Amino acid sequence: MKKMLTLLLALAMVLSLAACGGGDKPADNAGDSAPADTSAPADTGSEDAGTEAPAFTTVEAGKLHMSTNAAFPPYEMTTDAGGFEGIDVEVAQAIAEKLGLELVVDDMGFDAALTAVQTGQSDIAMAGITVTEDRQQVMDFSDSYATGIQVVIVKEDSPIATLDDLSNAQMIGCQKATTGYIYCSDTPENGGYGEDHVTAYETGALAVMALVNGQVDAVVIDNEPAKSFVASNDGLKILDTEFAVEDYAIGLAKGNTALLEAVNTAMAELKADGTFQDIVDKYITAE
Ligand code: ARG
Repeated sequence: MKKMLTLLLALAMVLSLAACGGGDKPADNAGDSAPADTSAPADTGSEDAGTEAPAFTTVEAGKLHMSTNAAFPPYEMTTDAGGFEGIDVEVAQAIAEKLGLELVVDDMGFDAALTAVQTGQSDIAMAGITVTEDRQQVMDFSDSYATGIQVVIVKEDSPIATLDDLSNAQMIGCQKATTGYIYCSDTPENGGYGEDHVTAYETGALAVMALVNGQVDAVVIDNEPAKSFVASNDGLKILDTEFAVEDYAIGLAKGNTALLEAVNTAMAELKADGTFQDIVDKYITAE
């Protein structure tokens, strides 16, 4: 990385010298694009004894900061001891180990977890994040590692039985900033139910609590958390219909190609050697 910077700087100097001596200057900002970012984060290398260890940088030297919203079982949740567990947490842990880094879990709101990685406050965002075109505009994504399905939770005795019935729902509860919220709050022409029919909650658990308390008529949320919430609350069921099928991936800051590649390589290795599946099996029992 340092070598690369030196090379680029040298090149930039040569170019700006050339521009100075070259009589007619096409533009006067020839030297301004030199990558002289002194605020660049600390260098960290990969410890994996690969042939050419990719030089990536992390927010904090030696650490891999993962921003998440740990209220999304079985992907990320808090433990009674005050720690974190779940599929994303363990997979991130395994990736960090492969990169020779220490995993640090930064728990925050879901929208904040997405923003944190975009603004360089975290290295990866891992929170059962669905890849969407809009998000791809502002962040990069790793290869997908799971499928998520948006499902509908209702009370066992609910008159809502199909997605069409949902348009009669007085109020749908969703977690703020999630794809469930984005789809449901869209206009009916676009397949949504309109903003007036959706309430955004800070967490999925709060949306489900609102359903239990009769404040909303249905909750639209990802299938695995849905199963977990239905299991831990009496009188709820998941409709037998899928709202949307999605891909989960790890989010990274745009242009952090070296880290993206390192993460993809680590993930591919974890899949190839069975570690990834072992982690999934620990949290999701096949039906
Ligand atoms: N898959 C959905 C999305 O990306 C919901 C993810 C919510 N994740 C969480 N950890 N709360 O919008």
